[in-house]
Amino acid sequence: MAAGFAVYTVAQTPAPPKEVAGIPVNYDEALVGHYTLPDPLQLANGKKVGDAKTWYQKRRPEIVDLFEENQLGRSPGPPAHISYDAFDPGTPAFDGKAIRKQTTIYFSGDKTGPKMDLLVYVPANARGPSPLLLNISFSANSTIVDDPGVKEGTVWDKDHKRVPAQQGRAIGKVDVLPLLAAGFGFATVYYGDIEPDFEGGLPYGVRALYLKPGQTQPAPDEWGAIAAWSWGLSRALDYLEKDSKIDAKRVVLYGASRLGKTVLWTGARDTRFAAVIACCSGEGGAALSRRNYGETIAHLTAPGRFPYQFCANYGKFGQRVDQFPVDANLLVALMAPRPLLLQTGDTDYWSDPKGEFLAAQGADPVYALLGKQGVETNEWPPAGTLVGHTLGYYMHAGGHGTLPADWNVFLQFLKAQLGCRDRP
Ligand code: GCU
Repeated sequence: MAAGFAVYTVAQTPAPPKEVAGIPVNYDEALVGHYTLPDPLQLANGKKVGDAKTWYQKRRPEIVDLFEENQLGRSPGPPAHISYDAFDPGTPAFDGKAIRKQTTIYFSGDKTGPKMDLLVYVPANARGPSPLLLNISFSANSTIVDDPGVKEGTVWDKDHKRVPAQQGRAIGKVDVLPLLAAGFGFATVYYGDIEPDFEGGLPYGVRALYLKPGQTQPAPDEWGAIAAWSWGLSRALDYLEKDSKIDAKRVVLYGASRLGKTVLWTGARDTRFAAVIACCSGEGGAALSRRNYGETIAHLTAPGRFPYQFCANYGKFGQRVDQFPVDANLLVALMAPRPLLLQTGDTDYWSDPKGEFLAAQGADPVYALLGKQGVETNEWPPAGTLVGHTLGYYMHAGGHGTLPADWNVFLQFLKAQLGCRDRP
């Protein structure tokens, strides 16, 4: 089955940089330092969380609030004026194996404002509503799949102009066929439709719709670009929920790198999502911030790098990570009791694959409290070994991104966790 999947993202690993944005980068385990992680099962008032009710009613909302305040920023609910143009309401695709649907989602009453194209395939021979993998991508929908029927969108180019998709960068493709064969639908959106991925992009994305009169920047605890992309994914799910061919209670998110951070935050925030596969999410995603290895908050939020992806408060912790009220073990814990697979690469040093494993381990007590099994091992597994249960960890041999064979592991995980069938 692996041969069926194209490489999704570039997996070449350059030599790890020794310094980024003038800040040294540590790759020496001996210099990682000692740290104490925040306890997922201890309330801010010091009391222990000993039952599921206290987790759901007190500790979980408390942790979400801390991430909003200090890392991703607060985001609004669904917009008051959203509209849909189902311009391709159902066309056979992939030799009749799928039904394709394309819809433009307008995020406000102003049709010249931000809008997102949603591409959906459902297995043609499904007997009931299908589970679905929702991908958030660096490239336009038309360059993600081999289907000439997909509308060519536009993308942001390196000069921050919108250009036809063909002229933009295309980072690999997804082969939808093995997903369809496993009974899964597939959907994809282009992240730049929701919010641009560059400093100064604010006026052109959804965040601009919510600025108060006279406000030019989000407040220090208001959303950065990652929370905006995440909000867009929730809007995609709002729409998928209306489609009777889709089992909206079994929608799985997939994203890589900054979009791995995005899908983690989306699963944490919006519990309608059934499961998440986060690829190489690294710092600001599943890698522990307190562990000084590879990228740190200081690198991520340095001027000229990615401060716009987070709320302004996040940058404060670059020099004092010990005072960061949360860490990645808590972000991972917010997925509990739902399935989460962390996919990393053993030479993706910048993203700290071991730090992602340790975060998963640190979230195990929450999975256990809620009656599920987490990674349940103290040993960081070697490359090529899937460990865990409802919370899984998999590191391929190689660098940043998802490799063709990783998709086999994803399907294995999803079949085990979401109970979809092998073959229609
Ligand atoms: C940079 C950044 C990472 C991010 C990655 C990506 O390397 O430092 O935090 O995950 O870009 O999105 O590819």
